[in-house]
Amino acid sequence: MRSLHHCPAPAKLNLFLHVTGRRADGYHLLQSVFQLIDRADTLHFDLRDDEQIVRTNDVPGVPEEQDLIVRALRLLQAEYARRHGGLPPGIEVRVEKILPMGGGLGGGSSDAATALMAANHLWQAGLAQQELMILALPLGADIPFFLFGETAFAEGIGEALQAVRGPDCWYVVLEPGVSVPTPAIFSAPDLTRDTEPVIIADFSSSYAESGSRIGFGKNDLQDVAERLFPPVREAVEWLGSYGDARMTGSGACVFCAFSSERDADLVLARVPGKWKAWKAHSLGSHPMKSLLQNQAVME
Ligand code: C5P
Repeated sequence: MRSLHHCPAPAKLNLFLHVTGRRADGYHLLQSVFQLIDRADTLHFDLRDDEQIVRTNDVPGVPEEQDLIVRALRLLQAEYARRHGGLPPGIEVRVEKILPMGGGLGGGSSDAATALMAANHLWQAGLAQQELMILALPLGADIPFFLFGETAFAEGIGEALQAVRGPDCWYVVLEPGVSVPTPAIFSAPDLTRDTEPVIIADFSSSYAESGSRIGFGKNDLQDVAERLFPPVREAVEWLGSYGDARMTGSGACVFCAFSSERDADLVLARVPGKWKAWKAHSLGSHPMKSLLQNQAVME
């Protein structure tokens, strides 16, 4: 097999995100529920006759050398060489990007995870899911979640994951039109860093009681993001008149959950034209996950 085309890299929402502490290395201890949704970038992979890792299209704001896709593939290439001796064939990747950068949707991390799943398969590199998760963690704290590939209660810096049943619902997501740099939010002096830890059962029972509504916890990064990026506050205020509107990740995107597609459509139709907005459905598992079980699902 020399190609994998139309590989999805789905977005995530953080249904809540608590900061419970800070590690000695500056990284923050989190608790969060990560939910995959059915809005995705699309990646295409072709093996090459040389050993180069190449991105074939421009992604505005992401130079090829800094692209998490390219960096992740180079890490896997080096790991392949350690295990098998000699480099695998090069890969070229083309990205159809629809997820915004600095949006809190995990787009860059998801692209990297999809690239790792695809290359592990194309190269027959043989890494297990857990090995890919460990390999990728230094590139970004969200990447292990996308490799885990199902709704997860996350702890640690985001890498300690347990599967949890998420709400089956529709989301309206607003893009406030700003790109939020994650380090600026985490380093803010006024960030709440001492939220009392919860247990997974607290989330599960709250969800069981409230059906598809997302009422559990809060996003501790939201106050800082709203202060530094007023368009985020504006989006939260607008969407908040239709339900419990919340920011995902370190922002900028804001979402609200609805139990029916019709309710989501009604709100979507009212979104002021200055914002990009869309609806998405919760996704039970990552569409590329079967590749990790060594089954070819694509051409
Ligand atoms: O997700 P990523 O690893 O790319 O994080 C970007 C930055 O966000 C880190 O360099 C760090 O400053 C901050 N961060 C943090 N604690 C986390 C995740 C990210 O402080 N758990």
